[in-house]
Amino acid sequence: MAMEGRRRRRLVLWLVISAQTMLVAAAAGAKRQAPVMFVFGDSTLDVGNNNFLSGAAVPRANKPHYGVDFPGGHPTGRFSNGDNTADFVAKSMGLKSSPPPYLSLAPNGSSPLLAQTALTTGVSYASADAGVLDSTNEGKCIPLSTQVGYFNGTKAKMVAKKGAAAVSKLLADSVILMGIANNDLFVFAAAELLRGRSAAEQKSDAAAFLTDLLSNYSAAITDLHSIGARKFAIINVGLVGCVPVVRVLDADGGCAEGLNKLAEAFDVALGPLLAGLADKLPGLTYSLANSFRLTQDAFADPKASGYSDVASACCGSGRLLAEADCLPNSTVCSDHDSHVFWDRYHPAQRACNLTARAFYDGPAKYTTPINFMKLAQAS
Ligand SMILES: *[C@@H]1O[C@H](CO)[C@@H](O)[C@H](O)[C@H]1NC(C)=O
Ligand SMILES: *[C@@H]1O[C@H](CO)[C@@H](O)[C@H](O)[C@H]1NC(C)=O
Ligand SMILES: *[C@@H]1O[C@H](CO)[C@@H](O)[C@H](O)[C@H]1NC(C)=O
Ligand SMILES: *[C@@H]1O[C@H](CO)[C@@H](O)[C@H](O)[C@H]1NC(C)=O
Ligand SMILES: *[C@@H]1O[C@H](CO)[C@@H](O)[C@H](O)[C@H]1NC(C)=O
Repeated sequence: MAMEGRRRRRLVLWLVISAQTMLVAAAAGAKRQAPVMFVFGDSTLDVGNNNFLSGAAVPRANKPHYGVDFPGGHPTGRFSNGDNTADFVAKSMGLKSSPPPYLSLAPNGSSPLLAQTALTTGVSYASADAGVLDSTNEGKCIPLSTQVGYFNGTKAKMVAKKGAAAVSKLLADSVILMGIANNDLFVFAAAELLRGRSAAEQKSDAAAFLTDLLSNYSAAITDLHSIGARKFAIINVGLVGCVPVVRVLDADGGCAEGLNKLAEAFDVALGPLLAGLADKLPGLTYSLANSFRLTQDAFADPKASGYSDVASACCGSGRLLAEADCLPNSTVCSDHDSHVFWDRYHPAQRACNLTARAFYDGPAKYTTPINFMKLAQAS
């Protein structure tokens, strides 16, 4: 049956418009929305929170040569020559960079920026020097328990703007990136040295310390879950006995094996801890990234990862450029990318990039039970 001309033209037009709508929808489906990300942790993830803390003892990456390889070449508060691991993880998930530091959005309670930013990109609470324990570097950082409290306050602002149901859904879909406990280990080990404990005493001290640390770590994740977080991307403790500031204490520049053993003991317990929490807390999923093993592998065969120096800092002074912090008057190595470490504590931008890629969709041995990509895509 022939259609009357005008009706047919209208039908054709409708079909074309519908097809375009479907194509647009298909394209949107193909390109996933980047997840909102909330970051908790220490200087390996801090993107500037410490710049807003007062006190002479607060570590801040607010001076040259930090940021020399950042667009513009300025220090940003990141303890890197450019981006850090939080930035590269965020980029791999489709964000432009790490979400911004909480204290840049909430110098006081009244800024509307906080809720807006939390709803669109997320927020970073990471703070250099922070640990799981409130006592770790007390007064010089935002400890984990306070970071969690700030997240809770952020949620209240999000709810006021968007409503409880929308915020529950958004938080459940968000990626929680967390890397912390390195500083607790440093502080514990330094205190043990000063106390001059016997080997037997050190062993029992370490056992008690690890129990506390794991219990508070578990409490923090449980609190985050109670606030609404569900998807956890967790970076374990690295090879802390091999950072330049520790190596320089050894006449031969060797690693502190005792400190590495302590880190390993913590990491070995972290796996079952997370598996236990996932069994207990409804909807909790996680990816545990093995920073310890990744670093071990890189150190065993530096050339395979493109490193010519895995022991010294690129920016600093003295032996291994590790006798002082990276300061405006420091020596800076010529090839920033060839060093694992930028300053005497922190990895350089390229190492951060390799790390994030390994955790996002690299070899299966570096993440348990799924990688960061699968975690981000899980619903
Ligand atoms: C709070 O922060 C906002 C935005 O940064 C600023 O405009 C305002 O003056 C601040 N208020 C107080 C009391 O510091
Ligand atoms: C750690 O846990 C202990 C008890 O297990 C608690 O007293 C303490 O307040 C917790 N605090 C932190 C975050 O250090
Ligand atoms: C978050 O804030 C709410 C409301 O103030 C409070 O009831 C709850 O205990 C807080 N949760 C955590 C984990 O701090
Ligand atoms: C660099 O400057 C600091 C003071 O900011 C000073 O203590 C240090 O001795 C200087 N280091 C070098 C290598 O000149
Ligand atoms: C990080 O690595 C990727 C892949 O090699 C590269 O495309 C990108 O430019 C690197 N980013 C930076 C800032 O170095």
